[in-house]
Parts: sequence; C-alpha cells; structure tokens
Amino acid sequence: MPQFAYACLTRSQRVSHENLRLRDKDWLEGIEKWFASRAYGREITEPIPPMFTPFSLRDMTLTNRVVVSPMSMYSAVEGMPTDWHFVHYGSLATGGAALLYTEMTDVSPEGRITPGCPGIWNDEQRDAWKRIVDYVHAHTGAKIAMQIGHSGPKGATKEPWKWDPEILDEPLDEQDRWPILAPSALPYDSYSPVPKAMDRDDMDLVRQQHVDAVKRADAAGFDMLELHAAHGYLMSSFITPVQNKRKDEYGGSLENRLRYPLEVFGAMREAWPAAKPMSVRISAHDWMDGDSVTPDEAVQIARAFSDAGADIIDVSSGQTSHESEPIFGRMFQTPLSDKIRNEAHVATMAVGNIYEVDHVNSILAAGRADLCCLARPHLADPRWTLRAAAQYEYRGEAVVEPNQYFHGYRQLELNLKRAAEMAINA
Ligand SMILES: Cc1cc2nc3c(=O)[nH]c(=O)nc-3n(C[C@H](O)[C@H](O)[C@H](O)COP(=O)(O)O)c2cc1C
Repeated sequence: MPQFAYACLTRSQRVSHENLRLRDKDWLEGIEKWFASRAYGREITEPIPPMFTPFSLRDMTLTNRVVVSPMSMYSAVEGMPTDWHFVHYGSLATGGAALLYTEMTDVSPEGRITPGCPGIWNDEQRDAWKRIVDYVHAHTGAKIAMQIGHSGPKGATKEPWKWDPEILDEPLDEQDRWPILAPSALPYDSYSPVPKAMDRDDMDLVRQQHVDAVKRADAAGFDMLELHAAHGYLMSSFITPVQNKRKDEYGGSLENRLRYPLEVFGAMREAWPAAKPMSVRISAHDWMDGDSVTPDEAVQIARAFSDAGADIIDVSSGQTSHESEPIFGRMFQTPLSDKIRNEAHVATMAVGNIYEVDHVNSILAAGRADLCCLARPHLADPRWTLRAAAQYEYRGEAVVEPNQYFHGYRQLELNLKRAAEMAINA
C-alpha cells in the first residue's frame, strides 16, 4: 500500500512531503493522485496536494483539510460575544481554512474560565453567535463549529494577559471569584480555589446545561459541535486520575472516570441533529509519571467517545496539571493522533506546532490524521490557507478565495514563485 511506504519514509518527521518531491517527483505525484482519488471517491489523474482534498463527516463536506483550532479570546462581556468576535471570526473565515472552530464557549456563567469567556447559556448570546455564523455562511466557503465546555476546577481565573508571570492560571481576586465545580475537592494548584466535589444534583444540572447549549448552537446555525474534554477543564478533570480522586462509580478505573463525560456527550449527541457531526477534544497524554492518562489509555478514550457517536477525535494533550512535563517540538502531538487513528480506527485531527504547509501535507499523506488544526499560525496570519494555495499556485475548488481579494493573491503567487526561483539559483 503506497501510504505504508510514505509513512515509513516520513515517520521520523524529518523527511517531509516536499523533501520527497525533490527526491522522486513521479513517486510523490503518484502518492498525491492515490490520496486524492480516495478523498474524491473517483480516479484523479492530476496530482493534488493532500491538504487541498475534501473530507466529509456525516452530511458536512469540508473542501480542504485545514482547520482553525479553538482559541479563547477572553474578550466577551458577561458571556456575550462582541464586535471583536465578529471581526475576528469573520476574518478567519475568509482565510481559506475549510473549518473554523470557536473558542471554548461555556454552558453557564460558573463554567467560564475567565470573566472574558463567552457563553451560550442565554438567547442573546445565541443571537450574537448567529450573526457570526450567518456571516461565515453568506460570505465564505468555510464551515463553522462551536467548541462547548465547562471550566470545572480551572474556572474563575484572570485573563492570561493579567496573570502575574510567575502564576499560571492565576485565580481571580477573592471578591471576584465564583464557586467552582470538579470531580473532587482538589485545587488545581496550591494557590487555586478549592472546587466543590460534584454531587448527583450538580451532575444533572451541568448535563442539562450542556444539552441547552447544544440546542442554542443548533438554532444559531453551527455546522458542527465539539465537546471540550481536554486541558484539565471539567470533562477532562473527570477523565484524568490526576484530578479525579472519587471513590464512587465516577472515579477509579478508566471506565468509571469516563462515565460522566460519556453521559454528557451522549445527551448532547441526542440533542444535536443526526446529520451534523460532532468532535471531542481530548488530552491524549498527561505527560506525568504515576497514575495518569497515557497514550494507550487515550486509544480507549477515543474509542469510547467514537462508540458514543463522536465522528472525529481532536487529539490534544496535557494541561491537566502544572506538574506535567510535555516534550514540545515540531508536530509534537501528531504521534498521539497517529496512534489513535491507526489503533482505535477513528478519524482524528492533529494539532500542536503544525505550522508549515509541508507539515500538513506530510501528516495527511502518511495517514497520521484526517484533518490538521492550526491555532497560533492563524493568529499571525488569518489567511494561512490562501497563502498556501498561492504558494502551490493552486486554483481548484478546495480553496474559496474571496473575489474581493483576487488581485492580492495573484501578486502573492508571482512573488512567491520569484522568491522560490531566486532561492534555487542562489
Ligand atoms: C490564544 C490561545 C487560546 C486557546 N484557547 C483554546 C480553547 O479555547 N480551547 C481549546 O481547546 N484550545 C485552546 N487553545 C489551544 C489551541 O487550540 C491549540 O491546541 C494549541 O495552541 C496548539 O496549537 P498551535 O501550535 O497551532 O498553536 C488556545 C491556544 C491559544 C494560543
């Protein structure tokens, strides 16, 4: 199988898609045609970079494989998205990525991370999100997904730019805090507030808040939903034994730790239209010694959410404890996506230090993920995918370039081509 050979050649993440093109252009183009033929479900005779091929989840078809990863803006007022969000998401949606995620959007005021986090717990918020969604649908080729979450033990903190640089996830001053919830009454760090260990009534309430959020997100017109079950927030804090010390049927074994997150996800799936897809973001590695989530456990976590109706797993990692020691580097979480995709046989999105066009094509062609999420690169360049299309002189249907920007991208195409020729001749 051609993908096996490609995966072996690129496994070290040192040899990339474009390296392979330099070494054997015909072979690489054969891989591109093979990949595109599978993506289109018919024979494709012209090579297409893997990132510019379509991908479908339920009734939603994405025109390409680039995703804007969820990024909190900490700029809401009383949970209301503002003009900042309208311009920010509107601008990202014209940038060529096929799928755009909102930041973590909270199911209740108490479920916010910071006072600047947006919500979807009332109808005014729903309408403000609808204005953004309507803009995206009317003016761009992108689909838009909402990431829904509850901050759990990491709630009631200051916006990151207000932190004392020495204090990660710095709590709000005491008079500004709201009561926070978690599986166990364990503060996130020594200086964090002590959460209430959730009882069954709290669990019922929070599950219902997630369901109400789902209904509002549907009414706002979102194409897809994600449950945030990563990074130490409420769902993640149930899954990781680092934070979940319960002695009842919601703590202990992985099966028990997954019980409540699966219950919430199942209720959300039931409330969300069957034609629309859902993803779950997980922390696939706690990066800690001792009793903690390991990549092997992550395969089981992914399988459990997939069995409960998740269409794709968004594979992140860590942020479940300040004591974790992640090994950062280029594409550092992609091996976790690879493992989950190929062992649990579920579709995955890779994320984390993926910033070059070449990274995206290499990950996709090797079968290490189905989609690639980029966060920080989109803050620096909201039109990252349009730029990539200009770099490849790609003019096909996978990238919707706004007519209004036509002249800018023709000039960019020429300039990038000239720069590449000069680099070869230098
Ligand atoms: C400013 C900022 C805010 C973020 N907010 C969220 C969030 O709301 N939800 C989430 O799941 N991840 C969040 N993340 C994590 C990103 O989605 C992504 O996983 C991470 O930045 C690694 O990707 P990157 O190397 O492309 O930046 C945030 C990252 C940044 C930089």
